[in-house]
Amino acid sequence: QIRSGNPITITDGNMTRFIMSLDEAVDLVLFAFEHGESGDILVQKAPACTIQTQAEAVCELFGGDKNNIKVLVMRLDIITLFPKMLSSFFEESILKRAQNKQLVEVHFHDLHDYSQNNYGSVDDYAYGGGAGMVIGIEPVALCIEGLQKERKYDEIIYTAPDGELLGQSRANQLSMLNNVMILCGHYKGIDYRIRERLITREVSIGDYVLTGGELAAAVMTDAIVRIIPGVIGDEQSALSDSFQDNLLEAPVYTRPREYKDWGAVPDILLSGHEAKIKEWELEQSLKRTKERRPDLLGTSGKTKAKKSK
Ligand code: ADE
Repeated sequence: QIRSGNPITITDGNMTRFIMSLDEAVDLVLFAFEHGESGDILVQKAPACTIQTQAEAVCELFGGDKNNIKVLVMRLDIITLFPKMLSSFFEESILKRAQNKQLVEVHFHDLHDYSQNNYGSVDDYAYGGGAGMVIGIEPVALCIEGLQKERKYDEIIYTAPDGELLGQSRANQLSMLNNVMILCGHYKGIDYRIRERLITREVSIGDYVLTGGELAAAVMTDAIVRIIPGVIGDEQSALSDSFQDNLLEAPVYTRPREYKDWGAVPDILLSGHEAKIKEWELEQSLKRTKERRPDLLGTSGKTKAKKSK
């Protein structure tokens, strides 16, 4: 299941982690061996292939011990003013399954619990005036720093419309982390000093403004968790997702083969000819991407298009 180019995480002897493609990892380790270095290689989750398959393949490549593979669980700490808004989302479907399978742990933290006044409020008027309240430093700092005392976080993410736009490649990368904190923004925002001091990444889910960061956190976690190996039963389906290759997905069909006069299922899909079906799917992907998202047809789309000819 490992495709060249799949991102993997490797950890060196100092427990410094590097995210790179499998090809780069092979080059790096071969280089290290040539220069007389050796050491343990810890392979962590990568999207779209099982951790076991991936770790075993890497062990084979590098002569590692297959009995010594560690699978790590992702821990998500979500800080929000509205935990109930989010908790129901995590109790259904894929996110629920990921937790049941012990691939992900999710913990909610209500910012009101860290209020420094008798009213339980966490916001205040903005200096300089203007409409809207601003979430203050103290409750956020207390909550984040409290969690940081318990474990090291790979990322502390703040959801904000002026953050970096979330794309598939960033979701892939985030899915390989172990401890991730997400702070949901609200009102007019949070005191900027929090963003400068404590936040390691600011993420937007689109060029529009939501009432709060909860929906953004839900979207982000869904995109991240579903590609953790083992979460989706059929590993192949995460591989063929739209955007994994910068290509939109080909159309899919199921029974009945004909319905009223709505058109038939393309014959090729019923031919049983696997290679031809793959070719058709790629053609469809390219056609749809050209029509709907020509901006996506960067290098990888073009390379695939050439290969298919
Ligand atoms: N909070 C408000 N709007 C948002 C957006 N577009 N993305 C992330 N967080 C947000």
